[in-house]
Amino acid sequence: MSSSLRRGRVLLKPLSELNVSAWRRVHAHFRDPEIAHLNGTPPSRMPLWLLKRVLRADSRRRDRESYGIFDVSGGEEHYIGTIELYDIRHDQATLGIIIGERSHWSRGFGPEAIGAILERAFGTLNLERVTLSTFGDNERAQAAFKKVGFHEKRRFLTGRGRVDVQMELSRWAWLEGASNTVSEHLAS
Ligand SMILES: CC(C)(COP(=O)(O)OP(=O)(O)OC[C@H]1O[C@@H](n2cnc3c(N)ncnc32)[C@H](O)[C@@H]1OP(=O)(O)O)[C@@H](O)C(=O)NCCC(=O)NCCS
Repeated sequence: MSSSLRRGRVLLKPLSELNVSAWRRVHAHFRDPEIAHLNGTPPSRMPLWLLKRVLRADSRRRDRESYGIFDVSGGEEHYIGTIELYDIRHDQATLGIIIGERSHWSRGFGPEAIGAILERAFGTLNLERVTLSTFGDNERAQAAFKKVGFHEKRRFLTGRGRVDVQMELSRWAWLEGASNTVSEHLAS
């Protein structure tokens, strides 16, 4: 069972600890066509109760850790999105993140949330490698992932005509320099 993680302005709380208003925002984010497009999924049509049941069941899987991202910079907790490690197997996992609140895009919240979950991945979980995939047209996501140390491994055209960009970060690279990169960014 995972507990809350803190880094900079963000607090990551396990999905099991989200309150009713946070779940309403999760629902709004999953129904949002632009976010669905960025994420490569169709907008969700599930009612809130069903989405909650599905996501909570998923988050209980042994190969997954899912968190709500909260902006705590103003002294209160504001839910802004979700982040997770999935397919946690042997010494690897895959990262996924959705900041659903547009007010929080391009303000550094993504790299802070990713930094918090990477500390967990390379620390307590003792993983060797974290991978992810994003779309070639999602330049904001690629810029954010590079800030925390991810580098591009390969890109290819998918059957649906979009470019899939695969990125990864090794434990060695994270320990070597990525945490410094985030610290410098936070200090600037
Ligand atoms: C992708 C995401 C996690 C990035 O987090 P973030 O907090 O917005 O990222 P950052 O604040 O580090 O911004 C990324 C950088 O990209 C830049 N950027 C924004 N839009 C851009 C664009 N269209 N083209 C190029 N760069 C862009 C920003 O200016 C910023 O650079 P800077 O810090 O040098 O100014 C977040 O925006 C998000 O969740 N978006 C919606 C869902 C999504 O795309 N999820 C990822 C699916 S793989």
